Amino acid sequence: MMTHQECINCRSKYAVDEVVYFCKKCGDLLEIKYDYAELVKMLGKSDWEKVPLSVWRYKDFMPINDFSKIVSLNEGGTGLHQCLRLGKQLGLRRLYVKNEGENPTGSFKDRGMTVGVTKAVELGAKSVICASTGNTSASLAAYAAKAGLRCAVLIPSGKIAYGKLSQAMIYGAQVLQVRGNFDEALDIVLKLSEKHRNIYLLNSINPFRIEGQKSLAYELCDQLEEEVPDRVVVPVGNAGNISAIWKGFTEFRELGFIGNLPRMTGIQAVGSAPIAQAIKSGSDKIVPVEKPETIATAIRIGAPVSWKKAVNAIRNSGGTAETVTDEEILAAQKLLARVEGIFVEPASASSIAGLIKLVNNGVIGKDESVVCVTTGHGLKDPDTAVKMSEKPVEVDAEIAAIEDALGLKRQVAILER
Ligand code: F0G
Repeated sequence: MMTHQECINCRSKYAVDEVVYFCKKCGDLLEIKYDYAELVKMLGKSDWEKVPLSVWRYKDFMPINDFSKIVSLNEGGTGLHQCLRLGKQLGLRRLYVKNEGENPTGSFKDRGMTVGVTKAVELGAKSVICASTGNTSASLAAYAAKAGLRCAVLIPSGKIAYGKLSQAMIYGAQVLQVRGNFDEALDIVLKLSEKHRNIYLLNSINPFRIEGQKSLAYELCDQLEEEVPDRVVVPVGNAGNISAIWKGFTEFRELGFIGNLPRMTGIQAVGSAPIAQAIKSGSDKIVPVEKPETIATAIRIGAPVSWKKAVNAIRNSGGTAETVTDEEILAAQKLLARVEGIFVEPASASSIAGLIKLVNNGVIGKDESVVCVTTGHGLKDPDTAVKMSEKPVEVDAEIAAIEDALGLKRQVAILER
């Protein structure tokens, strides 16, 4: 039962159908509020637990009035993979990867977009827009196509991963490459959506989108049969996702489904780490990074718009934040692929790189149960994967040549009797 939108700072309230992205009084972020007593009553009459794992299993927890308008590509219900081999290498007994690359467009963004685009349809919007380092644009373009909405996406200049660009293009979005970085592109779409009120903004500043992403936490609780992990490790860019996951856990506790909460642990790339710096220095503010850099282009963000929600999530959960280098990210990407068979994009591998660093320096205890969220599929960025792997060996189409190349000993053929 959603009741209203509320500013996280001055607590000003806004109606659920008002299109507003920032508090009009103090300019801070908004979040969706519910009447949990009403929600509990509603759940009592609902058969939600019979619905297979997915975002819409939790439709009673979502800020949508008209469920006949749902725009879905079957998102959520991603695998929670127990990582026995990687866990053994790190000395962890209970290590899991929640692999968001298994979503329809290959990233966690689909959880948010199914709800955000449904909201856009409910509000009667005809066009949607976002700024993106790649995955948001791919996801929004797909859901807009499904809903028949016009879609524009602004991507930064320079390299964005090829898989993501191809998605936005084939789904038919208007793709604009802005001469500037992600932060500049986001600033423009924020201003544009204020100016043109008929264009609905679907960056994670939009609190309805975040509501979809909180389903990741619900799924984790259900997959682990209410055994809440001690720690959840999440890559952080614009900081919407870690905030959304935390909201999901706090709501499940509010509803009495779980007793304890995990320590939220955010990982950023060294060259784009304003939130990790704020956490480490104990500051209440972030210092934006002017020229963010990292090979993990998805999280190459210097002024994360949801930083305050993320800092609150990390502090209130007793978690932490850490930085990882590009070398650590690539090594973790390769390791996860080779010991667990899970191929993720570099930004996603930062959660694994961060885990390794925090285990090695003793911040994460070996007795903890840990879930690393891997946010996007490896095929999003095939160039990086090819560049860092051994090249294919060219061989003649002959058994002997192949045996040589594979290092197999030649054997005398045993003749059939
Ligand atoms: N991992 C991947 C693969 C991402 O694409 C993103 C964000 C993140 C992590 C960070 O999530 O922003 O919620 O903290 N990508 C956005 C985009 C910015 O435009 O696709 P966040």
